[in-house]
Amino acid sequence: MNKNFLNISDLTKENIFSILNINNDNNCLQNKSIGLLFEKYSTRTRLSFAVGISNLGGNGVEVKFDELNISREESFEDTFRAMNCYLDGLVYRTDNHKKLLQASKYFKKPIINALSDVSHPCQVFSDILTLQEHFGTLKINILWMGDMNNVCFSLVEAVNLLSELQLTICTPKNISDIKNWKFNSNIRVLEDIEEIDLSKVSCVMTDVFVSMNDKSSEEKVSSLKSYSVTSELMSKTSTDSVFMHCLPAKIGFEVSEEVFRSAKSIVWKQAYNRMVAQKKLLQFIYQ
Ligand code: CP
Ligand code: NVA
Repeated sequence: MNKNFLNISDLTKENIFSILNINNDNNCLQNKSIGLLFEKYSTRTRLSFAVGISNLGGNGVEVKFDELNISREESFEDTFRAMNCYLDGLVYRTDNHKKLLQASKYFKKPIINALSDVSHPCQVFSDILTLQEHFGTLKINILWMGDMNNVCFSLVEAVNLLSELQLTICTPKNISDIKNWKFNSNIRVLEDIEEIDLSKVSCVMTDVFVSMNDKSSEEKVSSLKSYSVTSELMSKTSTDSVFMHCLPAKIGFEVSEEVFRSAKSIVWKQAYNRMVAQKKLLQFIYQ
């Protein structure tokens, strides 16, 4: 793996399995300081990295962009060159994936994408851990309902690498810009739920209709309304099926309250596993 984790495709299939197999915490971050730079809101990613870094003996340094000199006249380049003098790594959430690429030109230590408009690799990597733990295998059929957003992009990248997974995406036509996406033969994109044999689906995943970087909204929400995950949909899936959502959720939109709070919902396991998975990832990067 190169030093950065900006997308799932920065990993190989072998990397994924060796990272998942890291089982004990060590002190790989002793005497290391990792910057936590969040240009957008975050609860899970921010906290799971801060606590996880501290568990590994490191120091998570919250970097507040609006308190840096970049808010006055210092350039983006000089800001990241300065951070390079003190920090051993950076966890960076941004509204523009290009900034992650730009930052990596000047900041020479590992950069971890904590979500961008394009992808959310940490979320999907930890969801793979959750699926493996829950089912004891990755030979499962996933149904993604709704917007083909940043989380969906990382999921598609994961399925491209892990041929055990099968993915059906159910989404209205022409609402997402997917021209640069690559799909292997395990991935289908459909508009009509009636075309899917739901009895073979063991995981239903969704996410908000409108992501934080999304500008379009009312029209999009109305075209996504019928792609909401309901009890009726879940009842047609396999008996051992689960419901997953990266959170935060907009209950009543992409998922009904009933499904969200049901026994099939493993959303809190997912949230917990963010920290477990990211600690494995950090140990892999800093071993
Ligand atoms: N799932 C996720 O990344 O949550 P936060 O936006 O709260 O970090
Ligand atoms: N797709 C969502 C994920 C939040 C964790 C967003 O970008 O807002």
